[in-house]
Amino acid sequence: MTGELSPIDTAKFVAARRAADMVQSGMRVGLGTGSTAAWLVRCLAEAVRERDLHFRGVPTSTRTAEMARDLGLEVITLEEAGWLDITIDGADEFDGELNLIKGGGGALLHEKIVASASDRMVVIADAAKEVESLGAFPLPVEVIPFGWKATQTLIDEALTAMDVMGKTIELRPGADGPYRTDEGNLILDLKLTRIGNPRQLAMVLNQVPGVVENGLFVDICDQVVIGHADGRVTLR
Ligand code: 5RP
Repeated sequence: MTGELSPIDTAKFVAARRAADMVQSGMRVGLGTGSTAAWLVRCLAEAVRERDLHFRGVPTSTRTAEMARDLGLEVITLEEAGWLDITIDGADEFDGELNLIKGGGGALLHEKIVASASDRMVVIADAAKEVESLGAFPLPVEVIPFGWKATQTLIDEALTAMDVMGKTIELRPGADGPYRTDEGNLILDLKLTRIGNPRQLAMVLNQVPGVVENGLFVDICDQVVIGHADGRVTLR
């Protein structure tokens, strides 16, 4: 499955493999989105083949659903699952309090719903994702297409009222026009440099009309499994 891996893929793979070991037969498992989560799906498919693991997965994106089905995993909806035992997903950044920025891959809305409907959320990440304060990675905010420019202006005003300076807000481009999420929405990427109070910012953003969800995950993640390029794994 792994062949000769680059240092970054080694880090993602070892984190995913350790988290896959947390999945036990009978569990309902939220399956994240992104390149690290893709390693998880591969590791789980291998565990199904080699240690006779039986579980049902709820994917957080059409990409992950397709990959999981292609690898022979049982995929169900969140409605069919009702509730999840564990969700395992990647992140763009995490801090010492296990606050996250997610949504670099555009799946933040489904990821937040799935993670929030789980007994436990485990993040898998390479060591470079650990930060002192969130915010170097642009914060994705999912907005409905109707009136998105007005929503952008309202977000800008809300950030100014919070004394967030030096910010830019960009509509995420896609391959053919603006990027569209699985729900058909748009993403505004907020370049903020540093987020002093993630909890407050998450609440303020979600009060702006047109905002569907933001990529700040506060009080959702329970554990981070960190993969290192030398093959070590550490836990937060
Ligand atoms: C997708 C996400 C991803 O988990 C996040 O972007 C990390 O991706 P990767 O593992 O490829 O670095 O939030 O919406």
